Amino acid sequence: MKENQRVYTNEEIGIVFPLYCLNPPKMVREFLYRTKFETKYLFAIATYGNLPGAAMQELQNTVKDYGYQFDYMNTLLMVDNFLPNFEINEELSKLPQKNIQEHMNQITNDIKNHKHFIPDTTERDRVLSDMCKSLLIQQDKGEAAKSFIVTQKCNHCGVCVKVCPAANISASAQTTFGNQCESCYACIHACPQNAIHLKNEKSPVRWRHPEVSLEELIASNQQI
Ligand SMILES: Cc1cc2nc3c(=O)[nH]c(=O)nc-3n(C[C@H](O)[C@H](O)[C@H](O)COP(=O)(O)O)c2cc1C
Ligand code: SF4
Ligand code: SF4
Repeated sequence: MKENQRVYTNEEIGIVFPLYCLNPPKMVREFLYRTKFETKYLFAIATYGNLPGAAMQELQNTVKDYGYQFDYMNTLLMVDNFLPNFEINEELSKLPQKNIQEHMNQITNDIKNHKHFIPDTTERDRVLSDMCKSLLIQQDKGEAAKSFIVTQKCNHCGVCVKVCPAANISASAQTTFGNQCESCYACIHACPQNAIHLKNEKSPVRWRHPEVSLEELIASNQQI
């Protein structure tokens, strides 16, 4: 992500990302714009919590202009961690119906067999995606974290700085946020003191996937 010239060469290449506001995060969109893939099989998997809208079809249309196409695209329904609309404990109670492991096995098999598949998009998906366009423009301004509240519980441990994929946080004397926020909420969910809050969050309960450790999250960001 941090390199300017990016060319990847391999038999199979895949990218996995979440959907924020029915779209890949801005940094993922920029990555796809500035990257060259030399491969026989290119795939994209998006995790989402509720509704993917027309995200995959729109992305396929977008990358056509960049000179490539995905051979396989799919979506994986996971825990919805969009705190203004969803309460984590309620979302966790929905897990059995989401059949995540089963869907993941299906996707893994598809990829192993080099299946070609692009999800269908219904009229409803397109309407939903269109409805979210103005929210996406707002999100892309990168100012979301400006309205986060940092409480007195903050002990300046610096964890939020290390998990932020956008290098958008400074936690020296005071925890402050810049204008490059990707709205990923990693800082909010990872703060060991639960000191970062949204004004409109449903509850203060936080969540990280049990198979992803804080150390892995920090290492993958390589911010310091
Ligand atoms: C800012 C934000 C916006 C989101 N927007 C959507 C959305 O439009 N549709 C959806 O189904 N899930 C949405 N989600 C839920 C995430 O896609 C889902 O929880 C995903 O698994 C998060 O992956 P991550 O933990 O790797 O970021 C959103 C989450 C956040 C934080
Ligand atoms: S992770 Fe939490 S406690 Fe640590 S510096 Fe950031 S806001 Fe403060
Ligand atoms: S970690 Fe926090 S500040 Fe950084 S991009 Fe994610 S939400 Fe924004």
